[in-house]
Amino acid sequence: NNYVVIMAGGVGTRFWPFSRSNNPKQFHDVLGTGRTLLQQTADRFENICPKENIYIVTSIDYVDIIKQQLPFLADSQILTEVIRRNTAPCVAYACYKIGKQNPDANIVVAPADHIILKENEFEKRINIALEASASGDVLVTLGISPTRPDTGYGYIQYEQSDSEVKKVKTFREKPNLELAKEFVASGEYVWNAGIFIWSAKAIKEAFAKNSPALHAIFSACDNVYFTEQETDYINEVYQTCESISIDYAVMEKADNVHTVLGNIGWSDLGTWKSLYEVSDKDDNENVIDGSTMLYGVKNCIVKTPKERLVVIQGLEGYIIAEYDNVLMICEKEQEQFVKSFVADATKVG
Ligand code: GDD
Ligand code: MG
Repeated sequence: NNYVVIMAGGVGTRFWPFSRSNNPKQFHDVLGTGRTLLQQTADRFENICPKENIYIVTSIDYVDIIKQQLPFLADSQILTEVIRRNTAPCVAYACYKIGKQNPDANIVVAPADHIILKENEFEKRINIALEASASGDVLVTLGISPTRPDTGYGYIQYEQSDSEVKKVKTFREKPNLELAKEFVASGEYVWNAGIFIWSAKAIKEAFAKNSPALHAIFSACDNVYFTEQETDYINEVYQTCESISIDYAVMEKADNVHTVLGNIGWSDLGTWKSLYEVSDKDDNENVIDGSTMLYGVKNCIVKTPKERLVVIQGLEGYIIAEYDNVLMICEKEQEQFVKSFVADATKVG
């Protein structure tokens, strides 16, 4: 009864210029392993469910890239969105549809753009979570020990217990810096890894309680799932969906959230700095992916096309990234500017 839903419709703007709206980061081989983040995500579930039970939810624009990268997928396993509405509609669509096919479905929902270094540990954690979700009305998340007061994550406060599946007291999505600092200092919180495990029944009930508008929309689709009308009908109703993430729409409000803690070598490759942190460094603390000649360069991340020789002297603490006609040079500590570069570059065209 196990299914996997991979959410692969985000644009990943903080990873610009590498991540572009026409080719976002989940479709890149960010780590230089030969597999893209999306492919690695699918690989990770090899032992969790049969390949026919993997669904990808994505923007209509990315269907071709996805088919290319995951050729085992049948067309029916790629659920498309005509318009971006964040993750709550994406989760509801996939989980309601799967629930229609198999009312006892037990579903893992995962983002397409993370890395997990400890695959075995990950699989163990997922299996523990799946056992819990199969036997109860619970929404399970994976919890990661926080290493800094990052405001880009959800924070989970859980009840201390000996059980592997811990009851969650509060779920707080993207707190401000002050709160994030308090949460980390208290030692009572973990980060939400953004990977969710629940039965089709439990998530439906959770939408009904906490996000009735989305529940109404996607239960009304019940008789079009797996029919010829599905795509047209879904395209139409998507326009009426609120754009909201599953974290705000359901997880913050639900009272049956649980978490499975795990040291799984997780990283949300959200930004250049996070890629820098997880990558192997040379003797000068540089992360290099490209053809380079470096003189007095320290603490930099360089990701440039192999065919271009890049010569750098005297830079410390910089991101040097080139992709598809854009070269960006930015202080590593100022990477919050990347978002505004993207906005400005879009204006210039
Ligand atoms: N299909 C689809 N449609 N996918 C989407 C959409 C959409 O409109 N928007 C985002 N996604 C995909 C992204 O590609 C990514 O794989 C995943 O959904 C999560 O979206 P993000 O936009 O990356 O979320 P986030 O990183 O800000 O926050 C989430 O992840 C954090 C951990 O990385 C939350 O769940 C946080 O609580 C969590 O800590
Ligand atoms: Mg993310």
